[in-house]
Amino acid sequence: MFSKFEPTPEDPIIKLVGLFKKDPRPNKIDVGIGVFKDNDGNTPIMESVRLAETRIHETQTTKAYVGLAGDENFNQTMIDLIFGEHDSKDRIRAVQTPGGCGALRLLSDMLFRIASERTIWGSDPTWGNHYPVFRQAGFNVESYPYLNRETKTVKEDEMLSKLSQLGQNDIVLLHGCCHNPSGAELSPSAWEEVADLAAKNGFFPYVDLAYQGFGNSLDQDAQGIRTLMDKVESMVIAASCSKNFGLYRERVGCALMVGKTPGEADLARSNILTVARSSYSMPPDHGAGLVNLIMNTPSLRASWEAELTEMRNRILSLRKQASDVLREKTNSERWDFIEHHRGMFSLLVLSEEQTNALMHEHAVYAVAGGRINIAGLRNDEQLNAFADALISVTS
Ligand SMILES: Cc1ncc(COP(=O)(O)O)c(C=O)c1O
Repeated sequence: MFSKFEPTPEDPIIKLVGLFKKDPRPNKIDVGIGVFKDNDGNTPIMESVRLAETRIHETQTTKAYVGLAGDENFNQTMIDLIFGEHDSKDRIRAVQTPGGCGALRLLSDMLFRIASERTIWGSDPTWGNHYPVFRQAGFNVESYPYLNRETKTVKEDEMLSKLSQLGQNDIVLLHGCCHNPSGAELSPSAWEEVADLAAKNGFFPYVDLAYQGFGNSLDQDAQGIRTLMDKVESMVIAASCSKNFGLYRERVGCALMVGKTPGEADLARSNILTVARSSYSMPPDHGAGLVNLIMNTPSLRASWEAELTEMRNRILSLRKQASDVLREKTNSERWDFIEHHRGMFSLLVLSEEQTNALMHEHAVYAVAGGRINIAGLRNDEQLNAFADALISVTS
């Protein structure tokens, strides 16, 4: 039976993890894999999560199914976290999913039921798993201009000009914050313009929010979505709690649907639940249970927010340090963009030869194209070694 299969290529990031593990060089540096790391190179369990786990362990009385939509308290918590005090939250429905990927998968399958003729437009570049998920659902995909590869900023004029040509036959994927892989953020005024275009021309916004709290603040990182909410009739959001709660392997995410009316949102909800039923049926409970307990227990929430702020500050400080060191070493502003980017990633725009040289000659592991995870740099020694390696392969 299976001999009919063609072998599939290994995922490049997973391949990179394997190569890094096998590398015996003691000074090796991992800026490839997209998980947060602390000063010791660990991806720790947050203290608030540990405390919540203990409480759940002591009080949980059943492992019966949680239901197709998951825990409704968790769903409401996610609506509140993303939309804050917005006054038309009655048009939003949320469904608990296995991770952000689960939300992307369900939303795409749901949308395909009613919008199979639409094209999904993603930013150039976008996260490597976006197009595979959309194609798997059946959608045609295209990309709109996003990153200026010279300045490493967003080509907002070109992007908006492309979006102004889109309409009722299109779905536009936007990164809510902390763009992966580029690190370059849309300005608040560009979000306003995107929202105006969507409202005027009828393209459908599809937002991926995987890093809320990793950029500027919990509220600021959701501001783009809130701007859209002010102006468009309907949209969807795929949210992930993998990064901001450090719950990667617990698979916690949420699919959110905004309808023109509460009734329209109910229709979307009932359809997405049918999609869930025919795929994995019920979502896993543990991670969403933790998020719900943390967010609704004032002491745990305060501790989580403090820990999240600490993680964000580590990222921001590493960005500044990396830019400072590179400016000093090169006597140029070439790498200053690293400080201005947000989230864990920056796309350095390197050739294949350059990323290979980083790996083979300097034991620095970056993703193809030169995507680095700044949180992978452990200490000053690694920061310096990374800067020297980068200068060596780019000069
Ligand atoms: C842009 C983006 N979206 C979605 C996800 C999905 O995350 P998960 O399925 O682990 O929650 C990720 C994870 O790396 C991501 O970077």
